[in-house]
Amino acid sequence: MPNDTSSLLPVHADTWSGDSPFEVVVWLPLVDCFGTKAMYLLPPIESAKFSDEFSKRGGSSSESIFDSIKTEVKWLEVKSGQVLVFDQSLPHGNRLNEETETRWSMNCRFKGVFTPYGDKKPGEFFEPITLRPASRRGMSYELPKIS
Ligand SMILES: [Fe+2]
Repeated sequence: MPNDTSSLLPVHADTWSGDSPFEVVVWLPLVDCFGTKAMYLLPPIESAKFSDEFSKRGGSSSESIFDSIKTEVKWLEVKSGQVLVFDQSLPHGNRLNEETETRWSMNCRFKGVFTPYGDKKPGEFFEPITLRPASRRGMSYELPKIS
């Protein structure tokens, strides 16, 4: 909601807390999102530079990290009916919504079934949607019985 301080998401990359880099987020806004009603993302080239300089630029708080990247982040404009697919290893977050409208959005995560899992485990956070024939075959493989 506008000026709501209870739903702020400080700058972060989900991989910093152990989420898999083999994962994308699909963000589905239910309303037009723009300006501070939306989220920001540090683009890939700027993100790589930031990662290389993290010990110098990172600082000791998420606010100091944001200060060091605030001129490089892109505020995303995503209209209702559009989706954003983004790499959650890129620094991102939101700030106080200074627009006059409330943001309503949902998000889902997608990853390869055999990629590393952090705290979000299969069967708890992730559900398999598509298992290819080679994956199903491999998962049911058993070595020949020798006794
Ligand atoms: Fe995130």
